[in-house]
Amino acid sequence: MGGEPKAEVELEQLAEQIRYHEAAYRAGAPEIPDSAFDDLVERYQELADELGIDAADRVDAKPGEDHTAGFETVEHRVPMLSLEKLSPNRRDSNGEPMPIADQLSAWFRRRLKELEVETLPLIIEPKVDGISVSLSYVDGALERALTRGDGQSGDVITKQVIQLGTVPLRLEGVHEGELEIRGELYWPLAEFARFNATLDKPLINPRNGCAGMMKRKDPEGIEETGIRSFFYQVAWDSGVALPKTQGDMLQWLADRGGDVYLSEIFCTDSDEEALRYCDEYQARREGLGFDIDGMVIKIDDLQMYARLGATGHHPHWGIAYKFPPERKPTKLLDIQVSVGKSGKLTPVAILEPVFVSGTTVRRASLHNFVELERKDVRIGDTVLIEKAGEIIPQVVEVDKSKRKRGARRYVPPTECPTCGTEAVSEEIFVYCPNPACPDQIRERLRHFASRQAMDIDGLGEVLVDQVVDKLGVRSPDDLFRLEVDALASLDRMGQKSAERVVAGLEAAKSRGLARVLNGLAIRHVGETMAEDLAAYFKTADALLDFAARYVAEDEEAIETVAPAKSTQRGAIEGLARKTADSIFAELDSPAVRKVFEGLADVGVDLSVKTADVREVAEVAGKTFVLTGTLPTLKRTEATKLIKEAGGKVSGSVSKKTDYVVAGAEAGSKLEKAQALGVTVIDEEALLAFLAPLQKPA
Ligand code: IVH
Repeated sequence: MGGEPKAEVELEQLAEQIRYHEAAYRAGAPEIPDSAFDDLVERYQELADELGIDAADRVDAKPGEDHTAGFETVEHRVPMLSLEKLSPNRRDSNGEPMPIADQLSAWFRRRLKELEVETLPLIIEPKVDGISVSLSYVDGALERALTRGDGQSGDVITKQVIQLGTVPLRLEGVHEGELEIRGELYWPLAEFARFNATLDKPLINPRNGCAGMMKRKDPEGIEETGIRSFFYQVAWDSGVALPKTQGDMLQWLADRGGDVYLSEIFCTDSDEEALRYCDEYQARREGLGFDIDGMVIKIDDLQMYARLGATGHHPHWGIAYKFPPERKPTKLLDIQVSVGKSGKLTPVAILEPVFVSGTTVRRASLHNFVELERKDVRIGDTVLIEKAGEIIPQVVEVDKSKRKRGARRYVPPTECPTCGTEAVSEEIFVYCPNPACPDQIRERLRHFASRQAMDIDGLGEVLVDQVVDKLGVRSPDDLFRLEVDALASLDRMGQKSAERVVAGLEAAKSRGLARVLNGLAIRHVGETMAEDLAAYFKTADALLDFAARYVAEDEEAIETVAPAKSTQRGAIEGLARKTADSIFAELDSPAVRKVFEGLADVGVDLSVKTADVREVAEVAGKTFVLTGTLPTLKRTEATKLIKEAGGKVSGSVSKKTDYVVAGAEAGSKLEKAQALGVTVIDEEALLAFLAPLQKPA
């Protein structure tokens, strides 16, 4: 880490943690509660602001997404934003912790000032913990249901919602006009427990279970889940007479057959009373019969909403209050080390069993050894465990007042606990550098087969363990050599399931280079980096040739991806020198080269999947930012066309932006472009650039 200033080192470490936990979350296996993730992002944002980090280089530039492959996506009429949160970690301009009451009061005073009023009505509602849904009703009939997606466009889940049978298909008494209603799909606890008891492999929690169910491609059986809906907003309307306050709107929705928790709302014009209601509401949580993760405080005057406006992420008319998560003390019996897919050694707390937020906890991740030291965790300590209503428990702190004499400090391993290879440290993490480590092999193969990588139908984690232990599979290419008979001989497998796995493997051969790269668990190569590398190099051969040149310190190669001049951008967006060193060294390693050879041997497609990338001179290598509504192209279409022509699309404007494409009602991005002197073009000019794409290649 050399002489880098402390804040920058911390920022880089935070960025690393955020990327890691985001990937784990997206993979459906979060390791920390949402609240802890939010804290990381918040600290990152504070620090990045302090250091004046360029927006385009920030890890928080891209909002979270819930798009799923295979689902049609449709642009939301009005973006689905999220709410600003009152946070226990916020600090004021002097760096002093800011109590929640002060944060809410500051938020409320800002709203009074913006609206130039003395008082404002507030309405407080429970924040139901499910998945957001946007429901379009035309002439009173449900026409389409969309998930939040990336906030701009969502996945179509109309079939699934209709099959559910608990969302009104007709709004009673509404016969004309159009409405876009926002709400939450959630799984009541009793229904969840009943359904879960029927499954071999129980679902982790109601929220994730609900998200998974609503993304089932075949909706058959969804009606048996008992998942329900809850309406909280009309986000867009045309030709329907609507009430003018949120309270009346909720009543209006209830009168038309929508589920709304009218008995749970509270109205006041005092921010202090609003906060008291939120605090007191915690005691009612248990009796609700469904999970809520906080409260929402909204201005109870819908006519003010347009005047209040929004940032790119949050509307100004509401703010979320999150409940503090449940914390329980227990004894730390031992610390064990687990080995991850890229060799990362993670300390795991072995705990005296303790019941937290609905389940008995026996193990908890301790994240990394630096964190362990920072928290001064010792074996024998009384530690506090938190789940935040989420999935994976964690040790939040040590109760030092209970520390006994014999509490033992933990010394990080100097070698891999599984294979004994000498461990290496990189930044805050410790790794086993042996790619042949049995634990790494198992974890890598699990990842390779997983949905976010090669998506091999039928090859779940239990089966991966079996093919490793019983059929000697060691490398991804070995998987493609598996035969039906061998697979059929494994536990809980028969001829049919074995055939399904072999068909799944066959189908996975054509996923393309990006999926393969993601699947190989190369350090720093997640989904986005894999896509960017595949898009730039097009084939595994070109990528590996380049890696060899890079490792041999070929200046031209280094300059291509990591230009010495900080004003110049490398060919791969967001690839810094240190990361490039690590990625290309690993790609050039004999072990990775051997895997590529093996994959080529068994017929896996190692070229970029977007066969139709045809570079267009004006666009290739350039960074575009889209803002406002374009006259004909949807944002997703424009993005796709730019990428197909070899360009990049970024979410925020910086000095490195080449073009801002501005449409109607372009906001702050356009202003920033003008301030920075970035070229602003309209859709017509963009289409003119892209014209060569229309001609046959
Ligand atoms: S108002 C800008 N009211 O909480 C979004 N949201 O970030 C306005 N949620 O995922 C949301 N209960 O789906 C609102 N009573 C409620 C809610 C609620 C749950 C969810 C919403 C979104 C998140 C807010």
